[in-house]
Amino acid sequence: MNDLTFQEVLKEKTTQITDRIRMLLPKEEGRQRILFEAMNYSVLAGGKRVRPMLMQETYRCLGGAREREEDILVPFMGAIEMIHSYSLVHDDLPAMDNDMYRRGKLTTHAAYGHAMGILAGDGLLNFAFETALAANGQGNEGKLLQKALRVLAGKSGARGMVGGQTVDVIGTGKSFSEEELLFIYKLKTGALLEASMMVGAILAGADDETVRAMEEVAADVGLAFQIQDDVLDVTSTVEELGKAVFSDEKNKKTTYVSLFGIEAAKKMVEKLTDRALVKLNMYVGNNEDGEFLRALLMSLVKRTK
Ligand code: IPE
Ligand code: IPE
Ligand code: MG
Ligand code: MG
Ligand code: MG
Repeated sequence: MNDLTFQEVLKEKTTQITDRIRMLLPKEEGRQRILFEAMNYSVLAGGKRVRPMLMQETYRCLGGAREREEDILVPFMGAIEMIHSYSLVHDDLPAMDNDMYRRGKLTTHAAYGHAMGILAGDGLLNFAFETALAANGQGNEGKLLQKALRVLAGKSGARGMVGGQTVDVIGTGKSFSEEELLFIYKLKTGALLEASMMVGAILAGADDETVRAMEEVAADVGLAFQIQDDVLDVTSTVEELGKAVFSDEKNKKTTYVSLFGIEAAKKMVEKLTDRALVKLNMYVGNNEDGEFLRALLMSLVKRTK
């Protein structure tokens, strides 16, 4: 797949995913209307949709039935993006990174107030599970849905993303070893990427070994993704990134870049992505879906936002 074709296909898929997510979002009505507005604002503000896309592409690559996507896969694609968006809303709060811009717009708390930032995050987390629970499984799919829900709940929570954010926050201003830093990255960022690929695999009906392999692939992709995020924090601009730059320095965070420098960080992103691809290739064939997923993982190394 040449780069131009990839960029076009990526754009089309991103738009499709956003359209599907939009249909899953709550109606802005009732006495708590402002809450629904804040929730939808944060999800629809933009975003690359990396997690639902990884979920969809993993499902397709592992032989998931296209005609079952709408009923079983799409609710989980919506759910993972809602959980991710909630994690960003809370990450930007004054009590955490205290950032004002996200996805090219004011952060949710900046637009709607601090209380609504907290509540919109809470609302999105629960709404994500309502959405996933509305998946319409038939026959054996019921078991797969339950398995997928367990992964989604676990990876989002205290042993996953929330745990990583905790160690990140309590470590603010302290310096870490590489091992400690990678522990944080595996949880705060890796966990949701792991959930994305694992849920895609589970819903496609993949066996346990394949699901575990997708967890390992996504773990490497997650570390690479966060290290690249650290690189962009010091090399990009607010306009390009849609969020603040030098946020890590402002918050006295130890990052891969602060420990090893930009060049070493870039090399690490490449190394981790290569390792992820080697593993992925053992499970994913050379068809059109496989080609796209590989190109997607490679594009994350060179991403500029
Ligand atoms: C930002 O995630 C937070 C990290 C885990 C690094 P993304 O870079 O996927 O943000 P959006 O969804 O595109 O806004
Ligand atoms: C946050 O990491 C990862 C989350 C779980 C939200 P960062 O704090 O580096 O993410 P950005 O740079 O604000 O998107
Ligand atoms: Mg943070
Ligand atoms: Mg942040
Ligand atoms: Mg960052």
